[in-house]
Amino acid sequence: MCGIFGCALLGDNSGEVLYASLKRLEYRGYDSAGQATINSGRILVAKDVGRIDEVDSSHGMSRMRGRIGIGHTRWATHGAPSRENAHPHLDCSGRIAIVHNGIIENFMELRELLQKRGHAFKSRTDSEVISHLIEDFMRRGEGFVGAVRLTAEILRGSFASAAICLDEPDKIVCIRRESPLIVGIGEIGNFCSSDIPALLPYTNKVIPLEDGDLAIVDPKGVRILDWRTGSAVEREVVEISWSPEIAMKSGFAHFMLKEIYEQPMAIRNVLRGQRIYYELAASMLRRASKVFLVACGTSHHACIFGSYAMANLSGLASYPVIASEFEAQYKNLIDEDALVLAVSQSGETADTLNAVRAAKAKGASVIGITNTMGSSLTRLSDVYIGQNSGPEIGVAATKTFTAQVVVLLKLAMELAKSGSPRSGIDSLAEELAALPSKMEEAIRTSEEKVKHIAMKYSAKGSFCFLARGVNVPTALEGRLKLLELSYLPALAYPAGESKHGFIAVVEDGYPVIFLAPRDSTRERIIGNMMEMKARGASIIALIERGDEELKELADDFIEMPPCANELLYPPIYAVPLQLFAYYTSTLKGYDPDMPRNLAKSVTVV
Ligand code: G6P
Repeated sequence: MCGIFGCALLGDNSGEVLYASLKRLEYRGYDSAGQATINSGRILVAKDVGRIDEVDSSHGMSRMRGRIGIGHTRWATHGAPSRENAHPHLDCSGRIAIVHNGIIENFMELRELLQKRGHAFKSRTDSEVISHLIEDFMRRGEGFVGAVRLTAEILRGSFASAAICLDEPDKIVCIRRESPLIVGIGEIGNFCSSDIPALLPYTNKVIPLEDGDLAIVDPKGVRILDWRTGSAVEREVVEISWSPEIAMKSGFAHFMLKEIYEQPMAIRNVLRGQRIYYELAASMLRRASKVFLVACGTSHHACIFGSYAMANLSGLASYPVIASEFEAQYKNLIDEDALVLAVSQSGETADTLNAVRAAKAKGASVIGITNTMGSSLTRLSDVYIGQNSGPEIGVAATKTFTAQVVVLLKLAMELAKSGSPRSGIDSLAEELAALPSKMEEAIRTSEEKVKHIAMKYSAKGSFCFLARGVNVPTALEGRLKLLELSYLPALAYPAGESKHGFIAVVEDGYPVIFLAPRDSTRERIIGNMMEMKARGASIIALIERGDEELKELADDFIEMPPCANELLYPPIYAVPLQLFAYYTSTLKGYDPDMPRNLAKSVTVV
């Protein structure tokens, strides 16, 4: 996601410090950059689309003077990458500047309200409401800190934000809810930053802010308040001993592991997506006579899930198809009544874009689901939905897969609103809101067990993943993760199909991984387990917590949190399979972040 950095210095070289710090946030991924400093009674702003060095050479970021400044690397979510949408954002008077990382859920209503009160907006971002809200509270007599506090109270969603103001030019005021924000205590001044690597050249003494914290950072010190009550809070100063490389991974050994851990947050961001895009997409799906779900790799597995979810919840039939096969298989079926729903994390996969172009040429409508705003897919789509997972650095998709699954589930639920009884959807919506905490639980409770199983089986030459129903795409994804990271010829099947070929491979000790939640597939899955067991297979089962019968049957098992609705199993059960691939890869001495021969985004056909 976006990165923010702020400095309150004893000297007036904030331009240089901000520029160097933004460079250290580059690894997080970004499309635009900018910074603002206070100098001689004015707020100076330099910002644009492009690499930080490009913005520096055209706008002189590093030469900006001033003791107080804030900077930002933007990774577009609301509003395409453009100069206007780059941060910092000013208020109407140009006396306040802010940077923000996160998603403001109620920005549309706040923006409307502020526009009615005379505020003029320059960008299409959700973030710009922050500077105007601070301005509005100050117009009504609040001081700078009080105005930031009141602003924090009315924002819904996630934010780490830093603000500066000409009326109190000696400080930065920061607020935090859910998005990370760290204060650094240094010799040349004090800082705030989205992460630790950017702080390390200046200090290793940090205060990780907590939800509800408001920090007032000036060159000589830092004060922290609770913005919900206004009272002062004490926070411990932590001394960091990480190397810069480990710091970039927030202490994790690899980006992949970090990204597995980021999944609850990524799902929270999907749940915050603007409803209007889902409504638009659902109305297009309802009008279409044929619906094709087009994607490659992991995104294709998300599409298979999407197809199950749409059929089960709303009765809509759709065809999940691998993008490179789309034209060969369906070109004669594409016309103006057809709809292509293209899913691509990068929005740049050549096969997916080619399928979309071919469909458009025949008049079909296109809905895009992507993690990359401003990508080719967003430009080719009639309507697109951002999955808002933040940049994914590990080549193997993890958090972007579970986020795609949840986007598609939300879309299926939106579609269902006109059809099936609302009560089913309402209870699913309630359970969906609890999904991020179930993901947290799944990570926390399965990791050690998965590590142990990976050690026990890492010398095996092949694995097979079996599942039924809506769990089949998760099995396919588990297979893909293992194969791409451990270079093992792994297999995956709908369990019912295992008798038609795969069973011939099974011999003593062959490891078969079953996805066996307590759902409508369980009885038959048990039957398949018995078949495999009878031929000597080692059974590794992902089971629901407390399922004693399956514990007896399996050689090894991993207990997962229960769900009332089986459509929520896939994102949860994906977690131990991602961890299994990760640990098997590291045990074999491979680099899971950079598997051989693979690319994060395949832009050639
Ligand atoms: C490559 C990546 C996969 C990804 C696939 C589709 O093969 O290594 O992780 O799933 O491309 O990428 P997309 O960006 O279109 O989702």
